[in-house]
Amino acid sequence: MLRQFLDQILDRSVVGSYTRAGFSMRSRWFKELPHDALDGKNVVVTGATSGIGRAAALALARLKARLILVGRDQGRGEETCDLAREQGAPASFLSCDLSEPDAVLDLAKRITNETDRIDVLINNAGLMADERVLDSRGLEMTFAVNTLAGFVLTAALSSRFEDSRVINVSSGGAYLSDAAIDDLQYETGVFDGVRAYARTKRQQILLSALWARALKDRARVFSMHPGWVDTPAVRNALPRFHKFTGPLLRSPAEGADTMVWLSATSGELQSGAFYCDREARPTHRVGWTKSSAADLRRLWLSCERLGGVQPEHRPRDEDFEAVTRME
Ligand SMILES: NC(=O)c1ccc[n+]([C@@H]2O[C@H](COP(=O)([O-])OP(=O)(O)OC[C@H]3O[C@@H](n4cnc5c(N)ncnc54)[C@H](OP(=O)(O)O)[C@@H]3O)[C@@H](O)[C@H]2O)c1
Repeated sequence: MLRQFLDQILDRSVVGSYTRAGFSMRSRWFKELPHDALDGKNVVVTGATSGIGRAAALALARLKARLILVGRDQGRGEETCDLAREQGAPASFLSCDLSEPDAVLDLAKRITNETDRIDVLINNAGLMADERVLDSRGLEMTFAVNTLAGFVLTAALSSRFEDSRVINVSSGGAYLSDAAIDDLQYETGVFDGVRAYARTKRQQILLSALWARALKDRARVFSMHPGWVDTPAVRNALPRFHKFTGPLLRSPAEGADTMVWLSATSGELQSGAFYCDREARPTHRVGWTKSSAADLRRLWLSCERLGGVQPEHRPRDEDFEAVTRME
């Protein structure tokens, strides 16, 4: 009771919740995962060359997962593999530029050449851009990496899911935006990297909830917020925020905690929900960030078209409606 009360106060305070203080308060109640919780499980982590993704890979290695790690930088990717192997976990690195949907489809083929079954897929790679950059197919980079790559990878790997888990690393930044479904490529107005980022993080939450319904017989799907974490992304994209909040930021391992827990816990989980610090959280703070069922359908169909995928499992009409009612 006291725990829930304190947790709610932290959640509403935002700063208290997302900083290291929030993690240290809440983690007192966390139960340690069994040391072999992921023994024999195949886990794919994107964005494992740096920051939260690397920290997650190492924590998953300690739980005995078999790791397939993805990123662009071969050297840093191999380094993460070496560190994971030091923990006794088999690990391989696949290099891929996730901003190119064709490269993501090719990555899915390379992953399925390595393994028949995917137990956990963590779509963690992400960025905040300071200018509007387009990929070779004219896709805006923030949308292509943060939203579309995870969608395409989930669709392309879904035939390998069996009682699996998909974790999409979103952000509390989503509370500041609707999904901007009419402007997925940020063609309208002056480009603002923070706004572009927040839109994609909102899209990830919505798509996670839709995938949770579409894949209900194969996988549970979650979105999550790692908190405010001291990583190269924050240092480079938000230097003033980093300077101001520096000592309050979480370590990458603290930021990775909830995604590792979602990967490994045997406790009850709410598929489709948005998690932070091992609890499902509200997905909206204000009404204007919500989308209609028609908008959600357009978002889904745009991702299919732009990603060049036709998923075997799709949300039904009532699933689009249900996601509009998410609090
Ligand atoms: N740090 C925070 O406070 C915070 C808060 C909320 C949410 N998040 C989310 O957490 C996730 C991880 O971020 P981080 O803070 O750990 O940042 P980071 O240290 O900069 O790591 C980003 C990762 O994404 C990969 N990546 C970026 N663009 C890519 C591309 N085009 N193709 C392939 N991989 C690409 C990078 O790989 P390469 O280095 O190999 O290119 C790197 O491994 C992101 O989704 C971010 O939005 C972070």
